[in-house]
Amino acid sequence: MSEEILSRRALSIEPSLTLQISAKAKELLAQGRDICNLSAGEPDFNAPKEVLDSTSQAIFDGHTKYGPASGDLELRKAIASKLRLKNNMDITFENVMITNGAKQALYNLLQITLNDGDEVIIPSPYWLSYPQIIKLAGGNPIFLNSDAENGFSINIDKLKSLITKKTKFIIINSPNNPTGKVLSRDELMEIAEVARSNENLNIISDEIYELILRNDLRHISFASIAKDLKDRIYTINGFAKGWAMTGWRVGYLVGKEEIIKASSSLQSQSTSNVCSFAQKGALAAINMNEEYFLKINLKYDERREILYEELNKINKLYINPPRGAFYAFPKLPDKSISSLEFCEKALDEYGLVLVPGKVFGDDQCVRISCASSKDNIIDGIKRLEQMIKDYY
Ligand SMILES: Cc1ncc(COP(=O)(O)O)c(C=O)c1O
Repeated sequence: MSEEILSRRALSIEPSLTLQISAKAKELLAQGRDICNLSAGEPDFNAPKEVLDSTSQAIFDGHTKYGPASGDLELRKAIASKLRLKNNMDITFENVMITNGAKQALYNLLQITLNDGDEVIIPSPYWLSYPQIIKLAGGNPIFLNSDAENGFSINIDKLKSLITKKTKFIIINSPNNPTGKVLSRDELMEIAEVARSNENLNIISDEIYELILRNDLRHISFASIAKDLKDRIYTINGFAKGWAMTGWRVGYLVGKEEIIKASSSLQSQSTSNVCSFAQKGALAAINMNEEYFLKINLKYDERREILYEELNKINKLYINPPRGAFYAFPKLPDKSISSLEFCEKALDEYGLVLVPGKVFGDDQCVRISCASSKDNIIDGIKRLEQMIKDYY
């Protein structure tokens, strides 16, 4: 295709490096190579039986037609009720719409709120789609860097210095992809305080990993600690990670009614409704009891612990203990090898699939996932240890 056919926006989008890496890993696996893949961004088990049953039953019950663009009313109400009861948020179903994953919740929100040149502050490291989705909406991503040695803490003075007349949002993501960091109540309060003194600053709280959290921690929704800022907080979340429903593509956007209406109009002219029977599966998911999460989080706790303990034994790597999500984000010993080169060599020479930190905004780190069996994690870390010995 000649370049002229592509719009400036299309040309500004970077293809997903993670997809390229997993394509190469698959190719090597097909050639019979011994590959250990620690790059997964999704749970390694299936959705709960309740969800599978309800989704398939919904097809036979005829939930196979178009539905409202803003989502199945029963599901919107169930989500609103969950957010009121468990997340301490003051909302009703009119503040909730169903989207094709949390990704589309963010996409819709930015499409309907950003004008060309508006700025969105992203604490870095960040989920790799944020800058791309901002650019697609005509906005400019502004990065607020943090260091591994500092526990990837958000520097509040730095944040204040980045705010301009064009700043519209900051995106908070806790538990975090790729670092596994969970922001404390105090850290969230400090960000809220900055928003209080900057009335144009709105907050997007990406809480997709809410349920993948150390068993001794409780998730804190941003909207619950700053109720006075209610009209400036947008929460995005979904069913992909907590219930292992990545392929269902069901997420949601929570915010003031005016925004939910505009976002529903946009959706009505783009993807229409989220798959009707997938939403019925999500309804079954949201009605499940806490026991399920206790069980899966015990498993993740164990895996996170192994990941951390084993990484910690490798000389020269700097590692923060992950407290949520299913990733660790160790820092490489020095800058002699970029994260991209490091991951290429890891795959070619050690059969180990990792994700380069560069795609998350930090070229000296690599992301390692523990959404994998214990044996696989241990095998992968052995390969990594050997590589670090060989190269540094
Ligand atoms: C931080 C973060 N936000 C949002 C998403 C998107 O989630 P969904 O699959 O619901 O679109 C992901 C998926 O990897 C993520 O890591």
